[in-house]
Amino acid sequence: MSDWIKFYDFKHSVIYVNARHRDVHYRTIAEDIRKLVPSSTAHVLDYGCGEATSADLVAAACAQLVLVEAAPNVRASLTMHYAGHPKIAVITAEQAAAQPKSSFDLIVMHSVAQYLSAPELDRLLAMFHSLLKPSGLFVLGDVVPPHFAAPAAALSLLRFGAANGFFWAAVSGLMRIFVSDYLRLKRTVGLSHYTEAAVIEKLKSAGFRSERATHNIGHNQHRMTFLARPIAQ
Ligand SMILES: C[S@@+](CC[C@H](N)C(=O)[O-])C[C@H]1O[C@@H](n2cnc3c(N)ncnc32)[C@H](O)[C@@H]1O
Repeated sequence: MSDWIKFYDFKHSVIYVNARHRDVHYRTIAEDIRKLVPSSTAHVLDYGCGEATSADLVAAACAQLVLVEAAPNVRASLTMHYAGHPKIAVITAEQAAAQPKSSFDLIVMHSVAQYLSAPELDRLLAMFHSLLKPSGLFVLGDVVPPHFAAPAAALSLLRFGAANGFFWAAVSGLMRIFVSDYLRLKRTVGLSHYTEAAVIEKLKSAGFRSERATHNIGHNQHRMTFLARPIAQ
């Protein structure tokens, strides 16, 4: 298990300043993902879904939603939460790799690329290309650009908190993040940053034609979302 997966492997990650933040965060993401679901018959994969407390909003718009989470405790909590949901399945990263080719109409990987090395991201892009139907859409969200990432993330969180009733919790949450393992891991393991051109080039090498979306999924508009479609063979 990578150090970043261990960092996220808590029932409630330190990254969310309180339960309200976590719930508004996941509702915002689910509402954005729902807009990208192509039809009510679509099969959707959310890779690195995290706590996904609003996944039922996405499931309501599609035929099947597969949640993939590598962190075992987070996955156990998701499995319990969505047990018996007729449209939601929770699986491991290994099970995702074993899904049949061309199974999905929409694959989303949001706010995960920064935790992967460049070769790890390449491997996942190749896997998504194989799992996606030729007419499908791959969405790579929350890609962190090289400059001003930390101040932009802090400012976006404070704005998000002010708009959703958790401003002061966001202030103390930021201080908590400062003393958490996040900064230590950032220094030792590192975070991956990409320019817009570098992502488009990476996606091209994996067999996708892509463009940057006008809106990043979620609340941080300094980060980038890409819409990618398999290049016809
Ligand atoms: C910031 S959370 C994103 C959760 C959710 N997608 C969201 O946007 O809120 C980062 C996620 O990346 C996952 N992750 C980190 N490193 C990973 C790796 N090497 N392979 C697969 N998943 C990884 C973590 O388990 C965690 O769920």
